[in-house]
Amino acid sequence: MRLLLATRNDHKMREFARLMPGLELDPLPEGVETPPEDGGSYADNALIKARAAARATGRAAVADDSGIEAEALGGAPGIHSARYAGAGASDGANLALLRERVPPGSALRYVCVIAHVDPAGEEHLFYGACDGTMAPNATGPRGFGYDPVFVPAGETRTMAELADAEKDAMSHRGRAARALGEWLRT
Ligand code: IMP
Repeated sequence: MRLLLATRNDHKMREFARLMPGLELDPLPEGVETPPEDGGSYADNALIKARAAARATGRAAVADDSGIEAEALGGAPGIHSARYAGAGASDGANLALLRERVPPGSALRYVCVIAHVDPAGEEHLFYGACDGTMAPNATGPRGFGYDPVFVPAGETRTMAELADAEKDAMSHRGRAARALGEWLRT
């Protein structure tokens, strides 16, 4: 089965390719406009991306929206995680700001919502979450984004220190992708 993945984030593309080995994932074709992610929830933003891709291509499309939630910040940055330190901010700047504001050991949660939209406009949503805590230091060469400071529950290593398969087994995106995979098989 082929599926269009509406993302321009190479890290996400690689993670989805690992998470959905039975699927041929096509990237968003050049020239397809990605609308602003101005929804009020992960689900809204995932649907905005998947709807635009399905409409532009006439194909079934999936998109995810994800973020990190800090208990110490009342759930922020959440849906604003990609631009926490400002529009166009780098992963490094976003991570530095989170470290400034959240003490080590404080609760964090990664959340991911995947939207599947078919050409007839039928929509389905799949959720995944992963609980963890703020690491004392940023460590680890793998993953992306906030992974160097996210210690998953039950782990002593950060997400960025885990092997790909270990991250996939417990990550928010892994959980949401497995729910999507089960639904696609039914
Ligand atoms: P979006 O889903 O494209 O809006 O981006 C979500 C943002 O949340 C990313 O740019 C990262 O900063 C962060 N994020 C989401 N998932 C992960 C992950 O698996 N590891 C690290 N950071 C993540």
